Amino acid sequence: MDFTLSEMHRQAAEVVRRFAQTEVAPTIREWDRRHEMNPAILPRMAELGLLGICIPARYGGQGFDYITLGLVCEELERVDTSLRVVMSVHVGLCSLALLQWGSEEQKQRFLVPQARGEKIGAYALTEPGHGSDAAHLETSARRRGDVYILNGEKMWISLANKADHFLLFARTNPEAANAADGISAFMVTRDMKGVTTGDIHGKLGVRAGSTGWIALQDVEVPLENRLGEEGEGFKIAMSALDNGRYTVAAGATGLIRACLEESLAYARERRTFGKPIAEHQLIKQKLAYMALWYDTARLLYLRVGWMKNQGLRNTRETSQAKWYATEHSVKAALEAVQIHGAYGYSDEYNVERYLRNSKGAVIYEGTSEIHQLMQADYALGIRRDRPLRCELPAYDAEAWQQSS
Ligand code: CAA
Repeated sequence: MDFTLSEMHRQAAEVVRRFAQTEVAPTIREWDRRHEMNPAILPRMAELGLLGICIPARYGGQGFDYITLGLVCEELERVDTSLRVVMSVHVGLCSLALLQWGSEEQKQRFLVPQARGEKIGAYALTEPGHGSDAAHLETSARRRGDVYILNGEKMWISLANKADHFLLFARTNPEAANAADGISAFMVTRDMKGVTTGDIHGKLGVRAGSTGWIALQDVEVPLENRLGEEGEGFKIAMSALDNGRYTVAAGATGLIRACLEESLAYARERRTFGKPIAEHQLIKQKLAYMALWYDTARLLYLRVGWMKNQGLRNTRETSQAKWYATEHSVKAALEAVQIHGAYGYSDEYNVERYLRNSKGAVIYEGTSEIHQLMQADYALGIRRDRPLRCELPAYDAEAWQQSS
């Protein structure tokens, strides 16, 4: 068993760390206070190649592996969750689904501009009345000749107001005996008539990010924009979540690291009862747990990255990594605020933002409760993964770095 990261991994992580520390950290508090996404972020992430980091070069990407995707997410969320959310929806949920399920023509039309960062992708599954119970979504897609007519509403969609392309799920067969079998996947574009989007205001966290809604009114989506076969949408949605959840796990690991690093610095400098608080045993205990949670979360996500590189099915391992890392990022943020005392309760220190940002990830991309049910069913042998018509391709360094 080899746990060493390659030079390529280390360099990629270093570039992203420098970007996040020098270009994002100095102003993130202000953007968070304003509840606005810094408009320079997406173009800069595109320029750095992050928006196509693990997409083969022939599809406009950088040709790095899935482990690099995880490391990038960790580094980004080390500074702010809003940056990692971009990677989750644009790369994890949208571009990787195109790589897995798209026809060659769809890859050229949608994936190439997304990987180059010329177009932004998002993922639209959730609806006002359907979050965890995604199989019962209500947005309808009625076939009329060579088009589908889509009607409905999507809610809690990251980058809804920023994205150009939406991987969107709608019901094509309301009669299907099994609700999941009646869903299809579509690439909907912002310029289609009948598409409107807006931002959701008043969020607890990820305030420097963009979360919104999409309304679809008689939107004509051409047949060639359907991803996969009719009725295959739920499987596409779930497989996309295997990629999105991986990025969430890696990002939450970065959030644990942020809490740990800033608590270590504060504990060394802050003095009470005549000594640095780092010398008080109850503070040490908190730091020890945070270090343990960081290492465990990191090992869990790196295992998933390795499995993805090998082309191994990883739904169970991804769910476990996401569940563990996000739950422990909340715990780490609570402890970080506690260590900072009253200062941690104000936005003078970053840990206050970390605590608010940590909460969303135990809800989106599968609540902790959904992951617990999945894990119990795997353990009981009730849940088994079946092979898919299109699997996420294993990483092949030579092929992925060839530009044609
Ligand atoms: N990949 C591919 N196919 C999969 C799959 C996967 N990971 N998981 C299940 N499937 C397939 C199954 O094999 C099954 O197919 P067959 O009938 O042919 O065997 C089919 O999907 C249906 O499976 P199940 O009935 O077993 O359903 P399930 O138990 O897998 O799913 C659930 C139930 C776990 C509750 C699931 O609906 C779920 O994960 N819900 C949470 C949804 C979620 O995470 N939403 C967040 C959306 S993203 C977001 O938060 C917003 C954003 O902008 C980021």
